[in-house]
Amino acid sequence: MPKVPAFHIFPSAKAASTALADEISQLIRSREAEERPTVLGLATGNTPIQLYAELVRLHEEGLSFRNVVTFNLDEYIGVSRENPESYWQFMHSHLFNRIDIVPENIHIPESTVLSENLESYCSSYEDQITEAGGIDLQVLGIGRNGHIGFNEPGASPEVATHATELNSVTIDDAAQAFGGATQVPRRAITMGVKTILGARRITLLAFGTGKAGIVERALNPGITAEVPATYLQSHHDTTFFLDQEAGAQL
Ligand code: GLP
Repeated sequence: MPKVPAFHIFPSAKAASTALADEISQLIRSREAEERPTVLGLATGNTPIQLYAELVRLHEEGLSFRNVVTFNLDEYIGVSRENPESYWQFMHSHLFNRIDIVPENIHIPESTVLSENLESYCSSYEDQITEAGGIDLQVLGIGRNGHIGFNEPGASPEVATHATELNSVTIDDAAQAFGGATQVPRRAITMGVKTILGARRITLLAFGTGKAGIVERALNPGITAEVPATYLQSHHDTTFFLDQEAGAQL
């Protein structure tokens, strides 16, 4: 049965990140005890950086990722792996290079797929998630416009992994990192809302005053395509991990 997402407001972003890292580490350990892999869906952006730092710290204390399979939510189209702004670089520098994950178990959408191959590439990404057994726990951030992954306002809940256009708010938010709005890629590959809702558990991190309004809209009962994060209200096991600032309007 779907139920409106739960939310927890922590004293700080670090406390929220630590709580989610602890949940992930318990999941990895319990699946390992059953000799089963853990499949994680992962996000980029500023928000999950402290989560990844905490997972690295837990790894240094003995948590192994050798039985973990990961699928990233999204990647810019046309931004090569070598580009410092690619999500490939982000994930490797913040997490993958610092833990014992098996490289073959890492999945990040390919940014350089030719346009004529995009559709088949996206469906093969989806197949790989299915073959891995589906996502056990998905980590999400939220855009100021309510996007999840790159599912921008207007996104359909029926669509799986696909190529999409970035919204103007998203382009503005990425402008600084790319050295100006004109430099920001216009397109991305993203897991669809359907893919995200297929995860057995969904966790969403949101920190800071700038996210307070959209967090309130996402949790306000009522699903609308204009705020894709409201689709999470149709999922049976979603929790928002917030700091005081992001939770200020709840
Ligand atoms: C990006 C990503 C999202 C991320 C969001 C928020 O565009 N595609 O997956 O959740 O924007 O980013 P930040 O955490 O930096 O606020």
